Amino acid sequence: MRTAVYPGSFDPATNGHIDVIERALKIFDRVIVAVGDNPGKKPLFTTKERIAMLKESTRHLKNIEVDSFSGLLIDYVKSKNSKIIIRGLRAVSDFEFEFQRALLNRVVDSGIETVFIMTNEHYVYLNSSIIKEMAMFGGSLNDLVPEIVEKKLKEHFSKT
Ligand code: PNS
Repeated sequence: MRTAVYPGSFDPATNGHIDVIERALKIFDRVIVAVGDNPGKKPLFTTKERIAMLKESTRHLKNIEVDSFSGLLIDYVKSKNSKIIIRGLRAVSDFEFEFQRALLNRVVDSGIETVFIMTNEHYVYLNSSIIKEMAMFGGSLNDLVPEIVEKKLKEHFSKT
């Protein structure tokens, strides 16, 4: 049974993330979507909210678990008896950052591989920051994020 871990901030999940999860499930027996904190970013949603949105957005999928982690990603991956980290790649601009992280993780533990999955071409321009900016200014998020995410973003920005 091959288990892969797909880590990210998912603040919030976009259709690009869901697309990567669907593709990963075609390759691996089980995918654990792991919500973690990127020390360089201040999240808009709490970990609990991000998990709830991911669970709702992946209800149609089997063999998936949504979890959270703190501390080093490598330690979490090992604690789940996995050796595979999945990351989505959109444009070349993602590459250098992802390349550094994948290599660093491999230096720390040579038994762990990072597998990159290319996002559907419809979503190459999408990221959570752009989505939050669109939502803040009342832009339409139709087809860009799961329904629950659009609802939660609207709720959030109508309060602020
Ligand atoms: O969606 P993001 O913001 O690119 O996700 C980044 C995340 C959470 C996967 C990354 O920051 C992470 O792995 N954090 C855990 C701490 C860690 O292991 N850092 C070293 C990675 S080389």
